[in-house]
Amino acid sequence: MIVDPAAVAPALRTWDELSATMHECFACPLSRSRTRVVPGVFPASARLLLVGEAPGRNEDEGGLPFIGRSGQLLDSVLAEVGLERADLAVLNTVKCRPPDNRTPRQSEGATCRPWLEAQVDVIDPRVIVTLGSSALAWALGTGVRIGAVHGTEHEVRGRTLVPTYHPAAALRFGPNGAPLRALRMDLAVAASLLARPL
Ligand code: URA
Repeated sequence: MIVDPAAVAPALRTWDELSATMHECFACPLSRSRTRVVPGVFPASARLLLVGEAPGRNEDEGGLPFIGRSGQLLDSVLAEVGLERADLAVLNTVKCRPPDNRTPRQSEGATCRPWLEAQVDVIDPRVIVTLGSSALAWALGTGVRIGAVHGTEHEVRGRTLVPTYHPAAALRFGPNGAPLRALRMDLAVAASLLARPL
């Protein structure tokens, strides 16, 4: 069966249907390099959604998002600001690992976009945090710089968006680097938005 995400995803209304159908997707070249599709995670109570870039080696093997070094750093920053990963939905802009962990191509992101957007609609989060520039490009378009918008409130698909840096950037620039400082502050902003009365 050939699955066209743009034709199929918007009609799927549950997390389980979306995840199952995604496993049949061969719509872009990343389907040839993956070990498995990584749909993401959605605990039913999630009000905060994190959107990363793409599965890496660990995620491709384990089938879950952010289970490598970036994920460990993410967990520790989440804990610092009073958030627990188990309460959060976590997705990526593309669901299959790019070869050698390269950045997903714009065409691959565009092909996978209907999956992501259908997932966002099913999750219906109150707040969305994008991690890194691929997720930021999904939310606000290309040409927007993280340095210019991180930690500020925007809107995507009718939800409040807070863009921030990718944990891999925080690892790259180290414990005293600006990306880690920003990640902490921006996730604290997201936590405070969740605590704000509706
Ligand atoms: N980096 C991402 O963007 N997503 C993952 O799931 C893991 C690493």
